[in-house]
Amino acid sequence: MGAYDPTSYSDPREAKIQHIDINWTVDFSRKVLSGYVDLKFKSKKDNLSSLILDSKDLAIHKITDGKADLKFKIKERHAAFGSPLQIDFVDSVKQDEEFTLHIEYETSSSCSALQWLDAEQTAGQKYPYLFSQCQAIHARSLLPCQDSPSAKATYTAKVTVQHPLVALMSAVQCWDKAGKGENGEKLMTYKFEQKVPMSSYLIAIVVGLLESREIGPRSKVWSEKELVDKAALEFSETEQMIAAGEKLVGPYVWGQYDLLVLPPSFPYGGMENPCLTFVTPTLLAGDKSLANVVAHEIAHSWTGNLVTNHTWEDFWLNEGHTVFLERKIICELFDDKFRQFQAFNGLKDLHQYIETFGKDSPFTHLVVNLDGVDPDDAFSPIPYEKGHTLLFHLETLLGGPSEFEPFLRSYIDKYKFESVSTSQWKDHLYEFFSSKKAVLDSLDWNAWFHTPGMPPVIPEYDQTLSTECTALAEKWAKTATNDLGVFKAKDIKHFSSWQKIEFLGQLLLKDPFTSSHISTMDSCYRFSKINNSEIKFRWLRLGIRARYEPSIRPALQMATDQGRMKFTRPLFRDLGGWDKSRDVAIDHFKKNKAKMHNTTAQHIEKDLKL
Ligand code: BES
Ligand code: ZN
Repeated sequence: MGAYDPTSYSDPREAKIQHIDINWTVDFSRKVLSGYVDLKFKSKKDNLSSLILDSKDLAIHKITDGKADLKFKIKERHAAFGSPLQIDFVDSVKQDEEFTLHIEYETSSSCSALQWLDAEQTAGQKYPYLFSQCQAIHARSLLPCQDSPSAKATYTAKVTVQHPLVALMSAVQCWDKAGKGENGEKLMTYKFEQKVPMSSYLIAIVVGLLESREIGPRSKVWSEKELVDKAALEFSETEQMIAAGEKLVGPYVWGQYDLLVLPPSFPYGGMENPCLTFVTPTLLAGDKSLANVVAHEIAHSWTGNLVTNHTWEDFWLNEGHTVFLERKIICELFDDKFRQFQAFNGLKDLHQYIETFGKDSPFTHLVVNLDGVDPDDAFSPIPYEKGHTLLFHLETLLGGPSEFEPFLRSYIDKYKFESVSTSQWKDHLYEFFSSKKAVLDSLDWNAWFHTPGMPPVIPEYDQTLSTECTALAEKWAKTATNDLGVFKAKDIKHFSSWQKIEFLGQLLLKDPFTSSHISTMDSCYRFSKINNSEIKFRWLRLGIRARYEPSIRPALQMATDQGRMKFTRPLFRDLGGWDKSRDVAIDHFKKNKAKMHNTTAQHIEKDLKL
């Protein structure tokens, strides 16, 4: 592996990518992207005579330096990291010299960054659909590149698709041009430009029969037409959220901020692709209650996309700061009580993960060691919630928001367009708060960064919104089967969606219920009728945990009707861990596997120990 980044074979200290020009034709019949990329580099040393790039399952036809064909070797493939692509130059390059590599190639049908959907898997049922997910290290299966978050470049792209399909990328759209293909079909070429240097994991493409609605002065929501009006309503707070972000940490530099609602198999809640956030349709709750995910992806415009974790070992810098900023945006739109309630709620996810994977798991460190590790395997709520906890703790110790916001602004301003490591972040913290060195020294930094389990300090979050959830959860936990008559629908009549989520989240951390508890709870609170994905997910898990058989069918259904890994993986894990449901779960997985996202299917295979 590269000495610079444990998850990349490339080394930006030899030559650094400056600009990427992409030219792709989208071939739905063969499920490949074909064309070329021109990669412009700047040499960082004298006598550079070869270069190693990341690649994964690419069919490379030809590499030139603009004058001559270059020799290249595709070295041994690693299942997660792909194959180092070694390119030998004809003439060596001097320090600071710029050079461009022209690479003609195509992706493979098993490209790990792409999911190709048949028409039947779309809402409209008439046209196929394609989307990418490059984070963390799948960009290398889309194009040869320096696939390290530390290497940033601007990009331009031309993407040719058959009419009436629409192509979008993580960039500003320039124009489209019509032409004719070999078989006389009408072809459209969409052109994009990303003027802000960004990491390879933020390259993104979608192709489908897409429509848009304007939802703000710099924002549109895109989806198939069946969902677009619902999405426009759900995400109507987008501009308010961007404006809140700007007020907190400075100008939004990316120009456009659009949202794309994907088909149900999209494996994440949201993905912060610049200019075009990708989101799961499971956010469409009908009451804007899950729009915090949009606040989160907007926050990445600063923490993640502008200031980027140096390697995936520092992933907490991206996600911890983004959760912190997401909740600050929520605080601007609502109030600080709601921010603290969300933080308190997030601790449940942390507990749940640590309970499942063990309090000694090395993946529960805030700063992880990824030598030989696929970052997808290390993915967890730890960098999110332990990271947020550290920042909230610091905010409290250092004198509250009025002291901590200027630090965040200066951190963004200092490292914008660059990448940062955990030690650089800490150095900047010490520099900014030089007058409060004693406060900073009082933290057990080693415990925060390099020890497993729950955070060393849990802040005392405001309990205004959680008190009732806690009281009701405790009452349920200590009520015997014979006494369940005390519970009534009115107990939760006034609960918001998030209070229901909190209530169920707390119950999931307690001893399993009996089946009678679950059936009584359902007759009182009607959880099985609720479609909010976060509520439904917790409700079904609670049922499986209680060995309540009527939960099996709907849990299987939720696990495959949508493919967000946060929901699908735990549901399959739970179902696979109960002898009553294990066989049906395996059978259901096998039947649905072909239609699932590759990454999701691979994880579930491991989760189910198949
Ligand atoms: N960037 C992440 C998604 C991601 C992380 C994809 C690592 C691949 C590898 C995105 O910003 C994210 O964190 N999404 C969350 C949203 C939540 C924390 C509000 C999700 O998908 O649930
Ligand atoms: Zn995130």
